[in-house]
Amino acid sequence: MSSHILVTGASGRAGTEMVRQLAAGASVRGAVHYPDHDAEGRVGRVDFVEVDFDRPDTLDTAFRGIDQAVLITPEEPEMVAQTRNLVQAAERAGVGHLVRVSFLHSGTAGGPLLDWHREAEEVVRESAIPATILRPNSYMQNFLTMYGPSIFVRGAFFTPMGGGRISYIDARDVADAAVKVLLRADRDGRESGRDERIYSLTGPQSLPHDEIAAILTRVVGQPIRYVDVGQDEACVALRRRGASEQLVEALCELWLAMRHDEFATTAGDFEELTGRPPRGFEDFVREHAGELRVSPTART
Ligand SMILES: NC(=O)c1ccc[n+]([C@@H]2O[C@H](COP(=O)([O-])OP(=O)(O)OC[C@H]3O[C@@H](n4cnc5c(N)ncnc54)[C@H](OP(=O)(O)O)[C@@H]3O)[C@@H](O)[C@H]2O)c1
Repeated sequence: MSSHILVTGASGRAGTEMVRQLAAGASVRGAVHYPDHDAEGRVGRVDFVEVDFDRPDTLDTAFRGIDQAVLITPEEPEMVAQTRNLVQAAERAGVGHLVRVSFLHSGTAGGPLLDWHREAEEVVRESAIPATILRPNSYMQNFLTMYGPSIFVRGAFFTPMGGGRISYIDARDVADAAVKVLLRADRDGRESGRDERIYSLTGPQSLPHDEIAAILTRVVGQPIRYVDVGQDEACVALRRRGASEQLVEALCELWLAMRHDEFATTAGDFEELTGRPPRGFEDFVREHAGELRVSPTART
């Protein structure tokens, strides 16, 4: 019998895609922060439940009857406490397997953000529930959400990466990896135990941002520039947008590590897990060229 699967962060970049894929053949429940009345239309027949990771009283309903759960929490210092709330709710509900979405090099590079991720991983691994850890690098989808608006209005993306290379991964591949782990555990979990590995998930190539700009320019067919804004300017802009000082420090340190090539690693774990190579950046741009266009009235 197939298991009942809960995906938290179900409205987020990787969570949405996991729910969409699982809905095609498994019993899936999506835990969302706010009700989204359009979600059913987007992903098909899914049982959505409203939760707040900071309020344990909202979590028991979400975990009721669940066999396996994917734990995705936001990029905030609260992620450790939130993960603890989720793990405790999973334990109360008798969940049999957890899949945690963490970050590449958690605890060994990248500063406080990745220290929070490592602490959250430890909360998961210290539980009696068998757990698989996925550690993806930055998502290609950030080019749509973070840089898409400036590409549209300025024909440029602004980021403090210098010449640093990053092996961006498509968030759909993160979802593919999670679904593979979940369905495999579903199929042979009882006989062989759950897969308690850590998977480092990266794209197939690590690219510097001037090469990314060249790919965008060629594939979209409009000039798109990379502007290295420098570390200080990027951190000031983050503060101006109202981010907490703790988050500003964490993201600034992560960017500095990225600038120094610490997230250029390419790993073979995705291909080993799924049997195919991860999607490349150029294919990603081709599929999203319409969303990465420059406005005819752009101030370039
Ligand atoms: N983006 C990347 O490049 C990347 C790469 C590797 C790892 N990660 C990791 O993946 C995780 C998610 O990041 P993301 O970029 O995918 O963010 P995201 O798309 O915004 O996903 C976060 C999800 O958590 C939900 N959420 C936030 N606060 C909540 C709360 N208090 N209670 C219940 N749900 C809540 C959000 O819902 P609402 O939006 O409705 O609040 C959203 O669905 C982070 O831990 C991040 O470090 C991200």
